[in-house]
Amino acid sequence: MPPENSGGGLLASARGRVLAGARNAGSSANAGAVSNGSLAGAGAVITGAGRGIGYAIAMLFTREGGQCVLVVRDRSVGEAAATTIAKVGLRPAVNVADVTDRGEIASLVMEVSERFPRVDVVVNNAGILLDEDRATAVSLMDPLILEKTIATNLYGAVNMSQAFIPMMARGGRIINVSSTMGQLAGGSEGYAPAYCISKTALNAYTQALAADVASRGLMVDCFHPGWAATAMGGPNATVDPADAAKIALFLATRPQTEKTGLFWDHTGVIDW
Ligand SMILES: NC(=O)c1ccc[n+]([C@@H]2O[C@H](COP(=O)([O-])OP(=O)(O)OC[C@H]3O[C@@H](n4cnc5c(N)ncnc54)[C@H](OP(=O)(O)O)[C@@H]3O)[C@@H](O)[C@H]2O)c1
Repeated sequence: MPPENSGGGLLASARGRVLAGARNAGSSANAGAVSNGSLAGAGAVITGAGRGIGYAIAMLFTREGGQCVLVVRDRSVGEAAATTIAKVGLRPAVNVADVTDRGEIASLVMEVSERFPRVDVVVNNAGILLDEDRATAVSLMDPLILEKTIATNLYGAVNMSQAFIPMMARGGRIINVSSTMGQLAGGSEGYAPAYCISKTALNAYTQALAADVASRGLMVDCFHPGWAATAMGGPNATVDPADAAKIALFLATRPQTEKTGLFWDHTGVIDW
């Protein structure tokens, strides 16, 4: 299995100026600094925000002054997350939707638009890596596993992006949480084929959507969070989800004039 390891080099990179801010934002000294954060006044919709990397992103965005919307499948999980996150900033809204269900996402957009005038950032974080996928060689891959994985990891991002773009103004960001397991540049080891294929497709979607919406002033990027200590990453993972979240904050706050449609990790831009 290719461990999605990370050494934290992004903070030291030339592109790390905003990330350095993200690092400072993570300190307890800034807890509650709602009005002065780099996301002050920004509305952010984050899928899979009840746990793992999505939760860490919501925590950091809230600490940075953002008004987050936690998109979860289980309301009680979302409310518990919101209660904890509210200790560092504005209490996040909690909305229930399965990203594979376009009807539920349509309802989600309605609910969000009733509460908030616009959305500045959409983080397509929800993702799955099924046990059957981990255990099966690509030559034996079950098409149903592929279908299920793509439904969440690709169509989920497509559904969310299409639904929320009408609510986004110039400067808005769509951030797709991808993986180097979908990276073609390094070659594939054949592990978890459905997951890898879904992330390669998500990367392709990122690049194409960025080109499409650039004229509207929207930025679309994807990033590899590192091998993060979550349910998906497992017990041996080496990256704190809070550190992975700093890459999302960087992408949410980097200057609008910069090139978009890129694949990032903690070191900066990486190959597709
Ligand atoms: N952890 C890593 O090492 C790693 C490395 C590279 C990339 N990533 C990517 O990072 C993202 C977050 O992963 P994680 O490590 O935080 O995983 P995780 O702890 O397993 O959390 C996955 C999240 O996605 C949500 N989700 C799954 N299917 C969904 C659906 N159909 N609709 C709505 N929400 C759904 C889950 O909600 P429920 O609580 O309702 O299940 C959960 O909140 C994923 O896209 C993953 O591929 C992770």
